[in-house]
Amino acid sequence: KEIKIYSPATIANVSCGFDVLGLCLDNVGDEMIFRQSAERGLRIVEITGADLPLALEKNVAGVAGQALMEHLNPDFGIEMTIHKKIKAGSGIGSSAASAAGAVYGINALCGYPLSKKELIYYAMQGEALVSGAAHADNVAPALLGGFAFIRSYDPLDIVSIKAPEQLYATVIHPQIELKTIDSRSVLKQTVTLKQAITQCGNLGGLISALYTSDYDLLGRCLHDEFVEPKRSVLIPNFKELKDVAAKCGALGGGISGAGPSVFVLSKGKEVAECVAQAMKAIVANVDYACDIHVSPI
Ligand code: HSE
Repeated sequence: KEIKIYSPATIANVSCGFDVLGLCLDNVGDEMIFRQSAERGLRIVEITGADLPLALEKNVAGVAGQALMEHLNPDFGIEMTIHKKIKAGSGIGSSAASAAGAVYGINALCGYPLSKKELIYYAMQGEALVSGAAHADNVAPALLGGFAFIRSYDPLDIVSIKAPEQLYATVIHPQIELKTIDSRSVLKQTVTLKQAITQCGNLGGLISALYTSDYDLLGRCLHDEFVEPKRSVLIPNFKELKDVAAKCGALGGGISGAGPSVFVLSKGKEVAECVAQAMKAIVANVDYACDIHVSPI
């Protein structure tokens, strides 16, 4: 028995939802293959597209997959092949795609004993390995699609929200190294009451805008008081990238997850493509490579 899956890239935080909101990109993702084998246990047999360890305990997919294998305890073995297409350290959920893909594929080979929501907990164990925190705002949207909102971590309570029909994301990935664990370490541990009030307003408005497809409201809510002020200094051309997006008529944007990628949301593909072109011009002369994706959500 063999199963081939596509495990999507994701944008965590979506500005005002640090650690509690993420969205799934429709056309950027890894490919993973799962094969049933006679010898019990999990093995990663091949990884292409990235220099990652095959040892389970050192690999996000291995840690997440192993956590689920211990729970399901199948009487057969599983061999996993990973074709990485999402670059590590890009800020569009590369590790989450590995972790979410691993638990999805194993669950599928076992006959789907757990729901996608139940799989989130196991995928989070993989995230903890690389980011130092078992955050769910990449693995939840990778497993559920659309937007995922983490109402609570303990107990885990996740709300899946469909994306408005015409919502597109443009993501630029400047290939400079920025590890999640490092961009988490620059964050302040406290916020002021004033900042919390602003953030609550924006997050509530954003969630409401998703349910009502109110694109203008969505655009007004794409601000972040908590992490962007600290992290944006680590990202080259951050302000310029946001400014050109606004000129194209985009709704708004911010740092994708822990960075260094920057995302912009737009109503309609044309605006999203315009943002991509304008971003390209901004980075025309920089001395590092940049990938730019346009994706429906
Ligand atoms: N919420 C996490 C962070 C996402 O911003 O650190 C990391 O992709």
